[in-house]
Amino acid sequence: MKRTLHEAIAMLLGVLPLLGSAIPSLAEDTFSTEQMALMAGACANCHGTDGRLAGSVPTIAGRPAAVLEARLLAFKRDEASDATVMNRIAKGFSDEELAALAGHFSAIDPQADEAWETEQGAQE
Ligand code: HEC
Repeated sequence: MKRTLHEAIAMLLGVLPLLGSAIPSLAEDTFSTEQMALMAGACANCHGTDGRLAGSVPTIAGRPAAVLEARLLAFKRDEASDATVMNRIAKGFSDEELAALAGHFSAIDPQADEAWETEQGAQE
């Protein structure tokens, strides 16, 4: 399947407003829903949509914001000895953005989505 970059970007931009409206946002005062959706989208490839994936990549949805933030800051400062990729990823964000991402994922109910539960069941 061949798709030009332009088409891919147009598709992504088309989907973002939809994502934004579905996402509960704690960080609304600092970042717009659109900005939050864009930043959090960078995590979905590995952590699953809304950070709910469980398995070799740890679930981040619904974990306490303070824990997530501490982990992200530790990754960024190379203080997490278990880091494989997160150290490099966390460096791409400001401390403020990492705090907002922590708040964003902590506000998501890891079990609310039926599709997620079905997926989990299928893995057993
Ligand atoms: C390339 C895949 C990948 C991407 C993209 C990614 N992560 Fe991760 N994440 C991991 C892996 C793997 C770990 C386990 C630690 C490690 O190996 O670095 C992890 C661990 C974490 C942890 C620690 C969880 C715990 O249980 O302590 C947090 C928090 C986290 N990621 C948040 C994020 C956020 C926020 C983003 C988006 C900005 C993101 N991750 C993007 C793969 C990824």
